[in-house]
Amino acid sequence: MKKIILITGTSTGFGTLMAKTFAQEGHTVIATMRHVNGKNATSAATLSTIPNIEVIDLDVTDDDSVNKAVAAVLDKHGKIDVLINNAGIAGTGLLEAYTVPQIQRMFDVNVWGVLRMNNAVLPAMRKSQNGLIITVTSIAGRVSTPFRAVYSASKFALEGFLEGAYGELIGEGIESVMIEPGAFITEIMNKPGINADREGIQEAYGDAVRNVMQQMTEVFTKLLSVPGPRPQLVADVALRLVNMDKGKRPLRTPVDPLAKGLDHEYNDTTEEIKKRWYAVYGL
Ligand SMILES: NC(=O)c1ccc[n+]([C@@H]2O[C@H](COP(=O)([O-])OP(=O)(O)OC[C@H]3O[C@@H](n4cnc5c(N)ncnc54)[C@H](OP(=O)(O)O)[C@@H]3O)[C@@H](O)[C@H]2O)c1
Repeated sequence: MKKIILITGTSTGFGTLMAKTFAQEGHTVIATMRHVNGKNATSAATLSTIPNIEVIDLDVTDDDSVNKAVAAVLDKHGKIDVLINNAGIAGTGLLEAYTVPQIQRMFDVNVWGVLRMNNAVLPAMRKSQNGLIITVTSIAGRVSTPFRAVYSASKFALEGFLEGAYGELIGEGIESVMIEPGAFITEIMNKPGINADREGIQEAYGDAVRNVMQQMTEVFTKLLSVPGPRPQLVADVALRLVNMDKGKRPLRTPVDPLAKGLDHEYNDTTEEIKKRWYAVYGL
């Protein structure tokens, strides 16, 4: 069945690929992005020419923008079958070298942005007892590494909110699930992101930390350059989830070809332990 699918952050990367992939399948895609008439005007114009795609301005950090966009879609189409929370920003640096306002800005996009979107679409989904929400978290939301602690924490926060909310929404006819990509080369690598900038902290840590940082950069550069996994894989996984029968979608779908199956094993193992733990409580 053809669906009305709203995606956030479609100016580049996975978002653009998902918009094109869903549209090709005949779904109606509401491709949202910020700065439709500014820096993303070219992206917006390109996507608008594709059949089944409507482009709408939406900044996930702005309540009015979120509510206005969702209301416009509901007005026109009467429903949103699928919300894809994809918008996100990255950043690197020592945790101590981040200021709290910087961390808050990262969370404003990656975490509060998702909660704003969910809160905007859920009333209509609850009313119709139907809906699918797919949130793009990250493998970094399951495993945290040095110099990416703030980005990881934002994705861990999402995982925490959404793992709990799954059981709240399922009885309302709504599935809220996550895609957890590993490392893929997308435009995110060339965007400024929010990087730690407290003066003097990095220098104070000395050579040991600089060496670890250098080593990690080299490892990932090598892994991603052979060539690295294709970002289209993430869009294909999203399409598979959209097309899956209601009630069958897993809470987490990791997509990290570089992990050689360990991403799935990690999730399966922790899920199995969680079930036994719950059973001990009698849940
Ligand atoms: N690439 C990876 O290796 C990887 C791995 C795991 C998870 N992820 C996650 O996958 C998602 C997509 O990332 P990507 O790799 O495709 O990067 P990307 O090409 O940079 O796409 C991110 C999208 O989010 C948008 N965005 C940022 N701030 C926004 C805001 N305030 N309001 C609305 N949109 C906003 C960006 O718009 P602008 O162009 O205007 O900035 C862009 O369209 C993100 O959540 C990211 O954390 C990526």
